[in-house]
Amino acid sequence: MAPYTNGVRGIVLAGGSGSRLHPITRAVSKQLLPIYDKPMVYYPLSTLMLCGLRQILLITTPHDQAAFVRLLGDGSQLGLEISYVTQAHPNGLAQALILGEEFLRGDKCALILGDNLFYGPGLGTHLRRHVDVEGALIFAYPVADPSAYGVVTFDDGGRVTSIEEKPTAPQSHFAVPGIYFYDERASAFARQLTPSARGELEITALNNAYLARGELRAEVLSRATTWLDTGTHESLYEAGGLIRTLQHRNGMRIGDVEQIARDQGWI
Ligand code: G1P
Repeated sequence: MAPYTNGVRGIVLAGGSGSRLHPITRAVSKQLLPIYDKPMVYYPLSTLMLCGLRQILLITTPHDQAAFVRLLGDGSQLGLEISYVTQAHPNGLAQALILGEEFLRGDKCALILGDNLFYGPGLGTHLRRHVDVEGALIFAYPVADPSAYGVVTFDDGGRVTSIEEKPTAPQSHFAVPGIYFYDERASAFARQLTPSARGELEITALNNAYLARGELRAEVLSRATTWLDTGTHESLYEAGGLIRTLQHRNGMRIGDVEQIARDQGWI
């Protein structure tokens, strides 16, 4: 039987204006830009596939949707069912759970940001073990300066004790990467959020809703895992170079959605 996680759906959030990448992203969606030899969205999509998820919702801006449909269609060529919904304004990451409510039909979900790339030995197995979650699960990744990210503290049992968005004085070195696992209540909780000072429904606010109920856990992603976000010219350039180097060195393909679909026995 092919590895397939039933009852959990995947959401890729590929909206946003990509303003830090202007002028490149004035005409092209950030998540369609090349990371070496593939469009950026292949990488987060491949991560959801490695979680065993086959029902995927792709959230894009209204004017970029047609390009994503040209790229990925209904997903059947990859053994997936891909649906699309648009986010008219970049009103925050947690809005993905509201926009995705109909798609989720009350199922659990994994949300991944369309500009977050993960790579590492055993990553798929690790993620798949956790994706069928009770409450919510976030990941914690040690970085030198976490102040540009969500920052999490947690106890020995992995129970989260605090989570803050881009704190000036971080309470730990653990940044929160852009992949989140939620149980059936995520959309309902997202609906209760109010916009932050910058006018967004923050993903950190949604995670805090689970934390307030004592139902938020964090799982450390080992340093053997590579986590890249690609929101700036520097990080975009670096990510392309790294993927190229890794692929040349070990002959493996990273973010190759077709190969993963084959390996999973879906096509
Ligand atoms: C978002 C989240 C932040 C998270 C980061 C991961 O920040 O708000 O908590 O750590 O993604 O990439 P953004 O990069 O959208 O400012």
